[in-house]
Amino acid sequence: MAHSVRPGSEIPESQVTSPAVCAERRRFLKFTAAAAAGGIAGVGVARATQAGTKFTGLKKGGFTTDEELTSFEDATSYNNFYEFGTDKSDPAEYAHTLKTRPWTIVVEGEIDKPGTYDIDEILGWMSLEERIYRFRCVEAWSMVIPWVGFSMSDLVKHFRPRANAKYVEFETLQDPEQMRGQRYPILNWPYREGLRMDEAMNPLTLLAVGIYGEVLPNQNGAPLRLVVPWKYGFKSIKSIVRINFRETQPPTTWNDSAPREYGFYSNVNPDRPHPRWSQAKERRIAGERTLMESLFTTRIPTLPFNGYGEHVASLYTGMDLQKHY
Ligand code: MTE
Repeated sequence: MAHSVRPGSEIPESQVTSPAVCAERRRFLKFTAAAAAGGIAGVGVARATQAGTKFTGLKKGGFTTDEELTSFEDATSYNNFYEFGTDKSDPAEYAHTLKTRPWTIVVEGEIDKPGTYDIDEILGWMSLEERIYRFRCVEAWSMVIPWVGFSMSDLVKHFRPRANAKYVEFETLQDPEQMRGQRYPILNWPYREGLRMDEAMNPLTLLAVGIYGEVLPNQNGAPLRLVVPWKYGFKSIKSIVRINFRETQPPTTWNDSAPREYGFYSNVNPDRPHPRWSQAKERRIAGERTLMESLFTTRIPTLPFNGYGEHVASLYTGMDLQKHY
């Protein structure tokens, strides 16, 4: 079962260079003027809902990088989204069956404003921006992605968290009709993730609705996904339907499946090898290189906290990050 797999791959690192792996397979526009009524956050950004629709008037956010971008094609065809299958090409092939509107998110737990919120109501409150982040997968490949979204902290304020909200739990949709991978017990569905409250409230923590200036393709986690750039990619839960503010640390899918391999924190840490492979280097999938060239030739050093240490290292002062991996 899930013990034999890891977030996003059945291919052990030791086999990544095997030639067998080389064989790996590689709208209509609907705009709603967000600012039609004065006072709506997101002024100037067209509120788009259909995959492929371009956002207009996006502002550039902070925390950016001028590193070479991953191509749109690679970022949207080499995906991990086990709800649609375990092969990297499965999400692009099968995620079209996911219906991303109407879409509601249950927000509950230690907050003053619990409820079931429509995604478009939430988007009406938020101001969207573009942020280019490094994205490091636990499988030791990385990408550089221009996300469209907003800081999670800006959303959380609307729900008025209480002092005893210490953690946030997230859950992905569970619907085997729409998500064919859920017809098999590959993971303990629904997919769950969690953050400590201070991690969730760090301005780097992004809720994304788009990529490369357009609405998220389903395979990338439409209509709303988490992006936590200093943590391994599997923390970036897709297609969120529930956000629960808790006093206690929530269970998380990968930690449940293989606790020795995937801890609750999962901060990018070159000094803390995964039990089955090193995390010291990564293969950067970016630029003009083909996906296979990137995966088989380019290895660059992995940075602590994926290079975001100046913004987040202080969250872990006094913690043993070998123990809290
Ligand atoms: N979210 C859900 N619901 N299901 C998943 O299988 N895979 C995770 C994460 N979020 C996953 C998920 C993993 S392992 C990674 S590396 C990233 O999504 C991949 O995001 P990307 O496909 O946009 O690159």
